[in-house]
Amino acid sequence: MTAEPNQMESVLLENRHFEPPSEFAKNALIGDSDQYRKLYERSIKEPEAFWAEAAEELHWFKKWDSVLDESEAPVYKWFSGARTNLCYNCVDRHLEGPDRNKAAIIWEGEPGDSRVLTYQDLHREVCKFANGLKEIGIKKGDRVALYLPMIPELVLAVLACARIGAVHTVIFAGFSADSIRDRVNDCAAKCVITSDGGWRRGKVLGLKNIVDEAVEGVASVTDVVIVKRGQGDPLPCHLKEGRDRWYHDLVQDQSVDCPCEEMEAEDLLFLLYTSGTTGKPKGIVHTTAGYMLFTYLTTKYIFDYKPEDVYWCTADVGWITGHSYIVYGPMANAATQIIYEGAPNYPNNGRFWEIVEKYRVSIFYTAPTAIRAFMKWGDEWLEAHDLSSLRLLGTVGEPINPEAWIWYHKVVGGERCPIVDTWWQTETGGHMLTPVPGATATKPGCATLPFLGIEPAVLSEEGEEVDAGILAIKKPWPGMLRGIYGDNQRFKDTYWCKWGGKYYFPGDGARIDQDGYYWILGRVDDVVNVSGHRIGTAELESVFVEHPDVAESAVVGVPHEIKGQGLFAFVTVIEGRDYDEKLRAELVTMIDKGIGKFARPEHILFSSDLPKTRSGKIMRRLLRDIAEGKELGNTTTLADPDVVRHLRKQFEENTK
Ligand code: WTA
Repeated sequence: MTAEPNQMESVLLENRHFEPPSEFAKNALIGDSDQYRKLYERSIKEPEAFWAEAAEELHWFKKWDSVLDESEAPVYKWFSGARTNLCYNCVDRHLEGPDRNKAAIIWEGEPGDSRVLTYQDLHREVCKFANGLKEIGIKKGDRVALYLPMIPELVLAVLACARIGAVHTVIFAGFSADSIRDRVNDCAAKCVITSDGGWRRGKVLGLKNIVDEAVEGVASVTDVVIVKRGQGDPLPCHLKEGRDRWYHDLVQDQSVDCPCEEMEAEDLLFLLYTSGTTGKPKGIVHTTAGYMLFTYLTTKYIFDYKPEDVYWCTADVGWITGHSYIVYGPMANAATQIIYEGAPNYPNNGRFWEIVEKYRVSIFYTAPTAIRAFMKWGDEWLEAHDLSSLRLLGTVGEPINPEAWIWYHKVVGGERCPIVDTWWQTETGGHMLTPVPGATATKPGCATLPFLGIEPAVLSEEGEEVDAGILAIKKPWPGMLRGIYGDNQRFKDTYWCKWGGKYYFPGDGARIDQDGYYWILGRVDDVVNVSGHRIGTAELESVFVEHPDVAESAVVGVPHEIKGQGLFAFVTVIEGRDYDEKLRAELVTMIDKGIGKFARPEHILFSSDLPKTRSGKIMRRLLRDIAEGKELGNTTTLADPDVVRHLRKQFEENTK
């Protein structure tokens, strides 16, 4: 296995531990480790009874006939026979009681504009949006692509799709036109919802023009809806006759009443594209009832959610964290949450702390990469603000190094807030390994113990239980993916390929310590985690080889101080062609265009050849050693050992 060595070394030396603060535990939903253990044992011994009981807290048009149906494993079915609707549970369910006029979304735009939407407001706006979508012919099962900045309409659009049973696929607004087109084509989306633009670091980024380029000539897209982001004039947008219309025109005269579609438990809820080991992103399939229950319950227990909390997850709705822990989980719990549009360092490095102070945020959930950036910017940005409202901190998306964890604990949490380091994936739908904040003693850099109903193991390739090896999940859970859209074989090959197809293979390395705690050691496949964004190295490689001068390329992940991992590209050029700064610039532009700026490599190293085994397989392990400037591992299996010596020399010359 090839877990990130840096992370492994630092977490192997880590032995500090922190009990849940007693003040916190006193009022927590799960307030001690015995209570967690009892609940956990029950959830494993009687999973169906456990999940059925939890499901009673939600609204069902019709209850289930069975909790878990394994007859078509690994496509597990949860709550077969039941009918429900996510939007109903996230909005309508809260209109009967005291939550009706509670703020659902407190939104702040980057320039400082703001909006508050109560659950009642949300209901009205979502119904109008849903009726608008119906008017343009969107029906249950149709795919709708969303390419929007972090504005309230993004959440409204997600909920409107769920309300009428349309399948949303949110595309992070940093993706390029080519990436949008691939996704829209893969799922044959009928409609794209975008905006004229959005704010990022003091500038307005146009989005509609990117969508225009993406959907040009794409036959499935019959409608494009454009949200006007600001109050003033919109950014200049070209409206294509018969295809494009403004959101405000579409919703203006719609009825505020739109009944929820009664969805079958396993009806598609959304597709979310994520990176894997090939150049083609996978459309991860999530369905209705199981995902709803899993995001609801994890939000409740892992954020120890209380009605008076002000919750803030800084993720973008374009990633799974935003789906599960901005939209569905918190809203199913009737949470009040902050949504912020822009960058953490605009207009200065204290923006996040200004927001925490202004709205008295009590639960704060962010990514290690952000924490490392805050650390670097200096404590003075935090000291200038009152952060005493915070009671719980969380991290997600990548391993957190113990140093960043300790800083988060001390400087952000004032040593009084538990930290939940939540390990999970696009595919798992919600938290899998995580402390329960009032119950689990934490260790810096450790995702600790399984969530209720989750049975993990650390296995060897052969399936034996080992202390350090590959993470496996032994039992199905309600939030699990149900497939890869349109590619059942890839679903089976990717996730159920090891251990005789019995267990789910997430692609992470892990170790288990003497207390039974799980430490995530990073990916064991060719997926790299840059600032918490999952990028398949094969995606970059397939972009590079489209350049006429490029013969071959191999991209590896290397440790990066802020981003966690950075991308290091080795590129070989066709014999006789030049490699110079011009080629380097062209390759960077191709990545911007083929994937998006966030996938730019840190380094591109040109070489005449790549190290290969005698059977022609590129030895990525050696490339990683070179890219990290490390001693080279075993080179005896190489077809031509001179290649690595040459590469090493080039690396040294280029990175001096
Ligand atoms: C990594 C993000 C260590 C892991 C929710 C996983 C983590 C991938 C953690 C999924 C964590 C996520 N500690 N590693 N707490 N959380 N990861 O699909 O490698 O964008 O497989 O989902 O991120 O990334 P994805």
